[in-house]
Amino acid sequence: MHEPPLSGGTVRRLWVGEAELYRQHLLRFDAESRRNRFGGAVSDEFIGRYAQSELRLLEHAGDAEAALSVERAWQSRGVGTALLERVLLAARNRQVGRLHMLCLAENRRMQHLARKFDAALSFEAGSVMGEMKAPDPTPMSVMRERVVDGTDLATAMLDVPSQLAKRLDSMNGPPERRRRDRRYERLMLVDNWR
Ligand SMILES: CC(C)(COP(=O)(O)OP(=O)(O)OC[C@H]1O[C@@H](n2cnc3c(N)ncnc32)[C@H](O)[C@@H]1OP(=O)(O)O)[C@@H](O)C(=O)NCCC(=O)NCCS
Repeated sequence: MHEPPLSGGTVRRLWVGEAELYRQHLLRFDAESRRNRFGGAVSDEFIGRYAQSELRLLEHAGDAEAALSVERAWQSRGVGTALLERVLLAARNRQVGRLHMLCLAENRRMQHLARKFDAALSFEAGSVMGEMKAPDPTPMSVMRERVVDGTDLATAMLDVPSQLAKRLDSMNGPPERRRRDRRYERLMLVDNWR
């Protein structure tokens, strides 16, 4: 159950225009994770439409819903905990009083995670509803989010050249040639970015 903990990773927001990255992430899910994430089997087409839709607040003012997805290779390494921590900070600073999370009754890992953040869980017909209360925002909690958002932006900017480099690598002929030229491609991409 316990994998080596995650180190050196960062949590950042997806920006407008990155829906495709989100779609690819959801499509990489194994069948069990997909079922756990969506509460049942869903098609690739469903995922395509889902990834395009925007985040919406629930009808009841002050309520929001959170859903997490971590790919199999990264599960049980603290990523979900880091994500939920950030979601709670964002909810708190937007005065979302209650954060709802819905998962299948057999999804023990998600329930364990919700309990770590003091969620009240209610069980109903094969599913579990977790409800968390976000405390009121404070100047410190707002400042904390600004600091991590600033780091997000820097990370996203640094990520662009490496994403471009990966694409260029895959377009650039046989492995021998790619290996020989890689150093120069990366330098060129960094220069372009500046
Ligand atoms: C559920 C999910 C988001 C959790 O993320 P994660 O990165 O695996 O979670 P973490 O590693 O931060 O924490 C998992 C915790 O559950 C515990 N755990 C793992 N398997 C467990 C199990 N079968 N039963 C109970 N607890 C379990 C881990 O020990 C860890 O607890 P700890 O931090 O106290 O040691 C992720 O596994 C996932 O995306 N699953 C598929 C999609 C899904 O279920 N989404 C949720 C729908 S809302």
